[in-house]
Amino acid sequence: MIVLVGFMGAGKTTVGTLLAEKLGLDFADSDLVLEQRAGRPIRQIFAEDGEPAFRVLEHEVIADLLDGPDLVLALGGGAAEHAGTRRRLAAAQVVYLHVGYEQAMRRVGGGGDPASRPLLARPDLAATYRRRLPLYAEVATLTIPTDDRPPEAVTQDILEYL
Ligand code: S3P
Repeated sequence: MIVLVGFMGAGKTTVGTLLAEKLGLDFADSDLVLEQRAGRPIRQIFAEDGEPAFRVLEHEVIADLLDGPDLVLALGGGAAEHAGTRRRLAAAQVVYLHVGYEQAMRRVGGGGDPASRPLLARPDLAATYRRRLPLYAEVATLTIPTDDRPPEAVTQDILEYL
């Protein structure tokens, strides 16, 4: 099981897909699995049930995926804030894709409203980013810088480490 963590825009889905191809493993994205299970897009879950309910669902989805067959698994950017999820990650190979805040905002379009990222509308997003950095580092077994680097180079770094 190889798990990718990091802030929105770190490249978890792009790098995870490339990595899974190279390793001959399946790829899963916890956001997509959660949306399928809930039958609603993330934005709608946030709007109707609130973020705390989303976080509970997110933890359950990730715990189930970690219990399943080997995967390359990309987690939503907020997953590492859940103490129970962090505990579960202690048994996994966890790759932290580090991205600077400015670059993350450029990559995700700097505050648009895509269906899967309601947090982009929040005024305290920079504080959220800062709060999460030590949590990503805490769960990581490997940290890879991604600023100004193409996903292929990031993937290559991970493969060399593995
Ligand atoms: C979130 C990040 C999103 C998604 C949800 C919440 C966050 O995932 O889980 O919008 O709290 O940072 P990505 O990091 O894959 O965009």
